[in-house]
Amino acid sequence: MEHWIDKIEKTHSLEELEELRVMVFGKKGELAKAFAKMKSVAAEEKPKVAKELNLLKQKLMEAYEKKRAELEEMELLKRLKSEAIDVSLYTPAAQSGALHPVMHTMDRIIEYFTDLNFAVETGPLVEDEFHNFEALNLPDYHPARDMQDTFYFRDGKLLRTHTSPVQIRTMMRQKPPIRMISPGAVFRRDFDLTHTPQFHQVEGLMVDEKGRVSFANLKWILEDFLHTMFGDVDVRFRPSFFPFTEPSAEVDISCIFCSGKGCRVCSHTGWLEVLGCGMVDPNVFEAVGYKDVSGYAFGLGVERFAMLIHKIPDLRSLFEGDLRLLEQFR
Ligand code: DAH
Repeated sequence: MEHWIDKIEKTHSLEELEELRVMVFGKKGELAKAFAKMKSVAAEEKPKVAKELNLLKQKLMEAYEKKRAELEEMELLKRLKSEAIDVSLYTPAAQSGALHPVMHTMDRIIEYFTDLNFAVETGPLVEDEFHNFEALNLPDYHPARDMQDTFYFRDGKLLRTHTSPVQIRTMMRQKPPIRMISPGAVFRRDFDLTHTPQFHQVEGLMVDEKGRVSFANLKWILEDFLHTMFGDVDVRFRPSFFPFTEPSAEVDISCIFCSGKGCRVCSHTGWLEVLGCGMVDPNVFEAVGYKDVSGYAFGLGVERFAMLIHKIPDLRSLFEGDLRLLEQFR
């Protein structure tokens, strides 16, 4: 039996030691067998044999415990070594993310208007013809309602083509006065240098008792807004047409690339168009059930603002996810 002590001392792993433990101390192990043999030992021999056996058992136990402690210590050291962290190792600084330039521009626009107590309203991206067209005084035959321009679903619903339907939803939900903007994604069947099928707009609407909101108010706020966004530029209002406003205007700023002298970006006019606006058409108020009110509205494309502010020549480059472009805006 002494050779088991030797075996225990020569083990190299806890698994091996466990196997030995079962073989020696287990129910059917060597010790159990040795004790079982006691039955056949003569009575006068028994105390001596039993004493020897118990002594052996104790020696085996001691050898086992000692080895186990030794092996456990070794495994622990091995683990500590393999899991050690070298805090002196050099790693480049973690890259931090940044807002996409379009979202950053959107935030700046929102901030300007929320500072003036405009509420931020949202609406569904999947709209119906009533909110997207009809209530906005866009008649059946209007070209914008064409399949070529609008994404339609089979059930007659559509992807909103502008953020103006949020005007309608807000007015139908609330009583005047209204002072709101609605930022968000819009969709059109368009794809070239300056158009993508999805882009973003911010719509604005101010409504109060008849006579309290004038074109002068509209002019003042848009001039102030454009100076905040583009700095020291000239602003001009050009008569235009939108079905949902009357009178309507398009707003230009003096070209920020050539300071109004004329260049390729402004098609040598010295001006860049940045906004549509006007006084809300009475037909729109009628559609939402408003009486004896007046109001102004405006709408702008966020991508266009972002491109002008950051002097980005190709709209599509904003959506290609090229880190070399995006990293410049961190
Ligand atoms: N909805 C127009 C568009 O998508 C933008 C617009 C122009 C909104 C004039 C307005 C507005 O509220 O008064 O082109």
